[in-house]
Amino acid sequence: MGDGVSGAAGEALAGAVPSPNTWATPDVYEQENLGADPDGVVDAAVRDLLGPTGWAGLRVLDVGCGAGFHLPRFAAPPGAAATVTGVEPHAGLLERARRRTQDLAGVRVLAGTAQALPLPDASVDVVHARWAYFFGPGCEPGLAEVERVLAPGGTAVVVDHDATRSTFGAWFRRGLPRYDAAAVERFWARRGFTRLPLLVRWSLPDRAAFEAVVRIELPPAVADAALAEHPGAELDHAVNLFWRRA
Ligand SMILES: C[S@@+](CC[C@H](N)C(=O)[O-])C[C@H]1O[C@@H](n2cnc3c(N)ncnc32)[C@H](O)[C@@H]1O
Repeated sequence: MGDGVSGAAGEALAGAVPSPNTWATPDVYEQENLGADPDGVVDAAVRDLLGPTGWAGLRVLDVGCGAGFHLPRFAAPPGAAATVTGVEPHAGLLERARRRTQDLAGVRVLAGTAQALPLPDASVDVVHARWAYFFGPGCEPGLAEVERVLAPGGTAVVVDHDATRSTFGAWFRRGLPRYDAAAVERFWARRGFTRLPLLVRWSLPDRAAFEAVVRIELPPAVADAALAEHPGAELDHAVNLFWRRA
């Protein structure tokens, strides 16, 4: 992959937002996905806002699908999506997502970015992006692509941290002191998205796994301080789900 972002963590297409947590440490990130939201609060909220049958029978696109953690959930019966497409710019993660889903009917993973989705106009019913590219101001090119690929009546769903609430939110702010959560919320409201605030819990199998996950999410000094003040392997994490019907 030329013209992209390269480094020790592998190569990604041009336009990719560097994602050191999952590019450099995909196994720890897998552990994070397994331990974050064991109650399925986010998935349930996404399903509910789509209507009584959730994503059943719909064409679902997961933008920035990473190693494809969420793809099998969309494809799982009962209530399986008609088709599931993951789009991912990082070569190593794309390969992981393809391996994860190779035996699942109706699931495919394509190389691409949010800014240039490799899909025809009006070809999906749900666009889902979780912790990927759509972080507020600056993601306008991707939003234009979301508009293009969504069929009439389709739904866009963006899952991101809510830095204003929860223990994780406080840690996130310490790590990114100039992050303007209010500006991010205003950005989504201006674009017609509804905010659904959620609260999830992390539950990691042991302290070592918890520490490893915290360390890929925060700068080293912030992680040291956070871990020193927080015992155990559980955490509360506030999440914003922003959604809009096309
Ligand atoms: C933190 S990971 C989240 C992965 C996945 N959504 C999940 O929840 O497991 C962010 C992902 O977004 C991808 N990404 C970065 N820039 C992107 C872009 N411009 N368009 C689409 N995806 C992008 C990264 O390569 C990475 O896989």
